[in-house]
Amino acid sequence: MHFRPDLLAGKTAFVTGGGSGICKGIAHALLAHGATVAIAGRKADRLEVAARELEAGSGQRCLATPCDVREPDTVEAALDRTLTELGRLDIVVNGAAGNFLAPASQLSSNGFRTVLAIDALGTFNVCRAAFDRWLRDHGGAILNVSATLHYGATPLQIHASAAKAAVDAITRSLALEWGRLGIRVNGLAPGPIADTEGMARLAPGDVAEKLAARIPLGRCGRIDEVATLALFLVSDASSLVHGTTVVADGGAWLAGTSLDL
Ligand code: NAP
Ligand code: COA
Repeated sequence: MHFRPDLLAGKTAFVTGGGSGICKGIAHALLAHGATVAIAGRKADRLEVAARELEAGSGQRCLATPCDVREPDTVEAALDRTLTELGRLDIVVNGAAGNFLAPASQLSSNGFRTVLAIDALGTFNVCRAAFDRWLRDHGGAILNVSATLHYGATPLQIHASAAKAAVDAITRSLALEWGRLGIRVNGLAPGPIADTEGMARLAPGDVAEKLAARIPLGRCGRIDEVATLALFLVSDASSLVHGTTVVADGGAWLAGTSLDL
């Protein structure tokens, strides 16, 4: 553990995508540092199992609040339930995302729209609803999970690259508009992270191993490393960090190895 275990004592977080992968790891880290957490995703059953597992592992309250981030009504209901049951909303982590490999020439308009809708519109929907319900009056911290796909350009990823570029723009715009209200807004851009759905989809078979060999630090990242950075960015330890997206990729994108298969 890199931070004091009571780093986030008394705080409550809402984590989209918190039922699996990187964002489940972030939810675990938040809970382990004293926060209560609501996790959100579409699959209610998986979310409930994850919430019970996270709760048992931390002794802190973890609530499953199913929603589809593309649908503002369901997001609002999930946030209302979070506030009713957990009482506050200090931290919002937008991790819900969709991705798959597809050449631009074969990607349908609906395929492109779907990924934009989950990543970018979903992030906006959650921020907007959290603002109305809590952040405007109490301040807080927003963390948007991005990627490095769009720093250069990544083949077979036009949809996700456009979506994460939009997420970064949302991070900057909200930082500008909401900073004076005591709302810090930042982003976190992981590189290739082992044992995740993202890697299974984007670097299948032996691609992950080949990729790792080309990353300057010589390996893919771990979920707990991303979660540690997330903790820093949502806690007072980063009180002057605002409107920026911090990369955690072992130098991968600098070397042009941003999942460019
Ligand atoms: P993951 O486990 O598949 O996480 C995606 C999560 O989003 C799932 O829990 C999923 O839950 C949720 N989700 C998808 N569509 C949703 C919707 N419409 N409404 C609500 N929730 C929705 O994948 P991951 O690899 O850990 O990725 C987590 C985040 O890190 C993503 O933002 C991804 O872009 C980013 N990232 C990952 C990598 C990597 O190496 N893995 C690299 C760069 C960036 P349901 O299916 O239950 O809805
Ligand atoms: N290649 C090309 N197009 C694809 C595709 C693929 N692998 N997967 C889905 N699509 C297209 C579909 O064909 C559809 O377009 P169409 O109506 O023109 O045929 C469109 O995308 C929407 O697909 P659908 O399955 O209806 O969307 P959904 O809302 O049920 O699911 C996804 C969203 C597609 C992003 C799905 O992969 C998902 O739920 N992902 C969440 C987990 C994830 O992606 N994790 C990794 C994060 S890095």
